[in-house]
Amino acid sequence: MELHAALDWRYAVRAFSPETLDQQSVESLIEATRKSASSYGLQPYRLIVIESEAVRRVLLAHSFGQQKVLECSHLVVLAAHTDIGDHTVDRYVEQVMKVRGIPYGDIAGYARHMKDALARKTSREKREWAHQQAYIALGTLLTSAALLRIDSCPMTGFDRPAYDEVLGLAELGLETSAIVALGYRSPADEHARLTKVRFDDRDMVIRM
Ligand SMILES: Cc1cc2nc3c(=O)[nH]c(=O)nc-3n(C[C@H](O)[C@H](O)[C@H](O)COP(=O)(O)O)c2cc1C
Repeated sequence: MELHAALDWRYAVRAFSPETLDQQSVESLIEATRKSASSYGLQPYRLIVIESEAVRRVLLAHSFGQQKVLECSHLVVLAAHTDIGDHTVDRYVEQVMKVRGIPYGDIAGYARHMKDALARKTSREKREWAHQQAYIALGTLLTSAALLRIDSCPMTGFDRPAYDEVLGLAELGLETSAIVALGYRSPADEHARLTKVRFDDRDMVIRM
C-alpha cells in the first residue's frame, strides 16, 4: 500500500517552495537511482546533481522559461555516454571483477557476448540505447523520490545542446538525456489538486 500511496502522492511539480532538501535525503535518492537496472548492467550514463544557484541561473536561460530549474532545491541531470563500444564493456567487467572478486576468465565469455551485441548496433542505435538506459534511471529516480516523499518534476523541455555546452558534457563524453527538478511543492501549485489522468486498466494492459 505504501507504494500506491506514494505514487498517488507524486505529480510533476510545476511550482516549488523555497525550502531546500536535506543532504541526507538527496544522497538517499541518488543512491536509490544508482541501483537502477540497465541493459547488461552497463550503466552508460552519469547523474549530475546541481545545487549551485549560479549554474542553475545559467541553465534557466536554456530551459524554455521553466523557472523550476532555479526554484527547486536540487536539479539532477541524467546524461548518457556518447561513445559506446568495447571500452563500455571493459569498464563494467573491471567493476564486476572488483566487486565480486572473480578472475577475468569467469566473465570473459559474457564480455565477448556483450561486445558482440554492442558491435551489431549502428552508432546512432548505440547512442539511443544509452539514452534508453538513462531513462530507466529516470523512472527509478521518480518512483524512489515519491517513496521518500521528495517532490520532483521530470523535464525534457530545455535546449539540450545548450545544457551540454554549459555543463561541459562533451569533454566528459556525455550528452543530456533528461533533467529532474527536486524539492518540495509550493502550496500555491494548482497542479497538486488535479486528478491524475491515466488510461484505464483495460485500455493499458493486455493480458493473455
Ligand atoms: C520524459 C518527460 C519529460 C517531461 N518534460 C516536462 C517538462 O519539460 N516540463 C514539465 O512541466 N513537465 C514535464 N514532464 C511531466 C509530465 O508532463 C507529467 O509527468 C505528465 O503530464 C503526467 O502527470 P503527473 O506526472 O503529474 O502524473 C515530463 C515528463 C516526462 C516523463
